[in-house]
Amino acid sequence: MDKDILNKIDKLKKERNAVILSHFYQRPEIQDIADFIGDSLELSRKAAETDANVVVFCGVHFMAETASILSPDKMVLLPNIGAGCPMAEMADYDGLLKLKEQHPDAYVVSYVNTTAEVKALSDICCTSANAVKVVNTIPKEKEVIFVPDKNLGRYVEKMTGRNMIIWQGYCNTHNKLSRLEVELTKERYPEAVILAHPECREDVLDIADGVFSTSGMIKFVKESNAREFIICTEDGILHQLQKKYPDKKFILPSNKLVCPNMKKTKIEDVLESLENLRPEVKVPDDIRRKAIIPIKRMLDVK
Ligand code: 13P
Ligand code: SF4
Repeated sequence: MDKDILNKIDKLKKERNAVILSHFYQRPEIQDIADFIGDSLELSRKAAETDANVVVFCGVHFMAETASILSPDKMVLLPNIGAGCPMAEMADYDGLLKLKEQHPDAYVVSYVNTTAEVKALSDICCTSANAVKVVNTIPKEKEVIFVPDKNLGRYVEKMTGRNMIIWQGYCNTHNKLSRLEVELTKERYPEAVILAHPECREDVLDIADGVFSTSGMIKFVKESNAREFIICTEDGILHQLQKKYPDKKFILPSNKLVCPNMKKTKIEDVLESLENLRPEVKVPDDIRRKAIIPIKRMLDVK
């Protein structure tokens, strides 16, 4: 790691009163310079709480948007503006509006992996960490529209025992992992515990020993006596797992588990964004005022 870049980032961070937030899927060197690393739920809470003037969000676009919605007075920077989330783009404003017209009484639950416009049409948001809890707050007789992830939606249906109208979006990275790949890995490591993110396909989740958000996995490993884990999520999380638990073994069941968008942000982008205070992500006020309601409702779910 270039010490000069690190020193410059550190100096600028102080001058700008900036905080660096990183998702677990970011490159190891980004995770290592972050003030806080977390899953999407923790990062949105952190963005809302911080008293920094500038939030450098090392993640993807919808995460920076969520931070901007929660903290309109802060400057939210997304160091590489090309870092989007293909799943978030799969749910569009007009399509959701049409679906709502067909089901006028339905309650709309949107995964945080959505655009601000889609959030503005939603009743409550959720993340992978709280989706089951969120849906359980909705009265049983209410129809539920769930956007955009079909795999998370199906998992929530199973856990809550209710039927929902599920958008057919998916994560290009998690959806590629096949059950066979996990089974073959398990044959090589028969003692390993299988942990899966709920964006994985249903047949993968069926053979998992635990289904968790990224921080949920880290917490599980901390509390488990097992020595080996098959990790069914994006490879960035292995950096934290190996750092925190060097005596345990973590195995990725496939080399496809890399989110190209999460890997777009490089350390040089972080430096440039602190130097130039851009690219900034700012949600227009008319959308922000609507989108903040479902996000706040989600944050109130304990
Ligand atoms: P988490 O909510 O578990 O952090 O996941 C976010 C995400 O984008 C998963 O692909
Ligand atoms: Fe989006 Fe999947 Fe990448 Fe997460 S891992 S940011 S859901 S594309």
